[in-house]
Amino acid sequence: MDDRYRIRPATEADLDRIGEIIRQAWEPIFGLHQESWGEELFDVLYANWPENIKASVGRHLAEHPESAFVVESLETGEVAAFITYLLDMKKGIGIVGLNAVAAGLQGQGIGTMMYKIVMDRFRKAGLKQSVDKVALQARPSHCGRRQGARPSPILRFGEGAQRSISTSRAGRSPDGLFQRAVKYAQVRTGLNDAQTGARRAYEKAGFNIKRKEVIYYAYL
Ligand SMILES: CC(C)(COP(=O)(O)OP(=O)(O)OC[C@H]1O[C@@H](n2cnc3c(N)ncnc32)[C@H](O)[C@@H]1OP(=O)(O)O)[C@@H](O)C(=O)NCCC(=O)NCCS
Repeated sequence: MDDRYRIRPATEADLDRIGEIIRQAWEPIFGLHQESWGEELFDVLYANWPENIKASVGRHLAEHPESAFVVESLETGEVAAFITYLLDMKKGIGIVGLNAVAAGLQGQGIGTMMYKIVMDRFRKAGLKQSVDKVALQARPSHCGRRQGARPSPILRFGEGAQRSISTSRAGRSPDGLFQRAVKYAQVRTGLNDAQTGARRAYEKAGFNIKRKEVIYYAYL
């Protein structure tokens, strides 16, 4: 972060401030939805949205306290932004979840910075998994080595892993020993005008593969 802010793990004590940020930051987005879809459909889908989004962050903090952080002003100690994320190790995808920057502090780069930090965490988590995998794969060859053959030192595999870490941007080690366990980051946002800032910040952080979807409704 820059010298005005720091990040720290989010805790349940931050929830009220996070609730305020949610209300301010999503107001223009939900306002636009309400205008475009009409009151009735909006209420079906998003009545009580500030409380519901806050409750969702609360559940995330209870279940995955390690995967959320807040950005705090160094001067005032006030929380300026929050972000949640998750790792799907089965698919090898890191997922950016709910996040927002306080209304008056948007457009200063805080959002982009949070996304970059989270993407770095995904990369590191993926590397750790890969290194662990290599260490595990290495063991049988030590146990089953030929009689009289020089034991290949465990370190050799560590070195392989180190080499792979340094070239891990390509996702594959030079000798093809393993691939990174987390290869992609994913985030979901809307295509409406109120979410232009979010799309811009995600793209600035490096999200560059776009999947477009539309949800239709019909009054029956
Ligand atoms: C999305 C969000 C977290 C981004 O945080 P932020 O600190 O404002 O992001 P940044 O300052 O890093 O970048 C925002 C970029 O969008 C641009 N932007 C903002 N509003 C824009 C608009 N209406 N049209 C075009 N660009 C816009 C900014 O100019 C900036 O780009 P730049 O640096 O090239 O000028 C924040 O806008 C937010 O809280 N939005 C509401 C909640 C939300 O949508 N959360 C994401 C969940 S999907």
